[in-house]
Amino acid sequence: MSDPLLVDDWHPVAASASLLAGQTLAAQLLGEELVLWRDSRGACHAWQDRCPHRGTRLTLGHVADDALVCRYHAWKFGVSGACLQVPAQPDAPLPGGGARVFSAFEIYGLIWVCIGTPPPAPPPFPEYANPKLRKVVCGAYPLHAAGPRIIENFLDMAHFGTVHDGILGTAEHMEVCDYQVQAFDDGDGNSGVLATQCMALQPQPNSVAQTGSQVEYTYRVVRPLTAMLTKLPQAQQGFIEAIAIIVQPLGEELSAVWIVLTVSNADQSDDELRAFQDRIFHQDISILENQLPKRLPLYSRAEISVACDRSSLAYRAYLRGIGLRYGVINEA
Ligand code: FES
Ligand SMILES: [Fe+2]
Repeated sequence: MSDPLLVDDWHPVAASASLLAGQTLAAQLLGEELVLWRDSRGACHAWQDRCPHRGTRLTLGHVADDALVCRYHAWKFGVSGACLQVPAQPDAPLPGGGARVFSAFEIYGLIWVCIGTPPPAPPPFPEYANPKLRKVVCGAYPLHAAGPRIIENFLDMAHFGTVHDGILGTAEHMEVCDYQVQAFDDGDGNSGVLATQCMALQPQPNSVAQTGSQVEYTYRVVRPLTAMLTKLPQAQQGFIEAIAIIVQPLGEELSAVWIVLTVSNADQSDDELRAFQDRIFHQDISILENQLPKRLPLYSRAEISVACDRSSLAYRAYLRGIGLRYGVINEA
């Protein structure tokens, strides 16, 4: 199953910090196995993890002279993917063709890859440009769930008091107050859903909060598998937090979730900030891996909804509108 909407888009496949110059890394995207490698100028390359000679995984090979050398017969492939050397036949003309090369791009601390025709840029995350905010990449969290179920859960406020009881909500305050939902469109090819005035009473809105607080959330879905939220706790004046969640679709029902944290917290280490996100997201995983059907049903009355599910319904309507087929069920 392939879907041009996702094939022709950027997706994160690794943290930038995890790939050093001269190294290779295996990754997976939309069922495609990738080899990532970084040359001596710092540029990142993403290729199909298969040698065009006899199909050996290129992740077994090594980087030498800004080229990738296959482990099996040591054919050498340059940054364009072209074969530069065949040691078994040093004097013969080089064979045509080469490794299959995909587009790669780095932003927000992540390596992004497109296995089809890439749009101009990965999703916009303007808060990342704010020099006053710390940036921490969390994850990736691998899980057996379809990407759209994961984004829908990110928009859901009615589970704060159950799944995140004592942190993002309490069993005593389960009611979700009225909030606004509208279409999001930045006119630049990024469209989705915007939910505003989302209020939640949270015992521990972030890892440095000393008291509970009313928190105002704003959510925006900007691509089928990318969403951001900002949360402003009333009890911590001046505290700013914007979180992006980006799902890396490993397969249709298998995902890796990246969370990019931008936050005005200067008191904690990256590991402490990550530990808080790890704790929250592992609570979500326990639900996300136990929702059936695995793919998100988009047809009407597929599941019972209530008024406070309207951001979820707006997200489903948006996916229907753009014609997503991967990770969803369109018909009963
Ligand atoms: S299989 Fe890679 S060089 Fe032969
Ligand atoms: Fe959650």
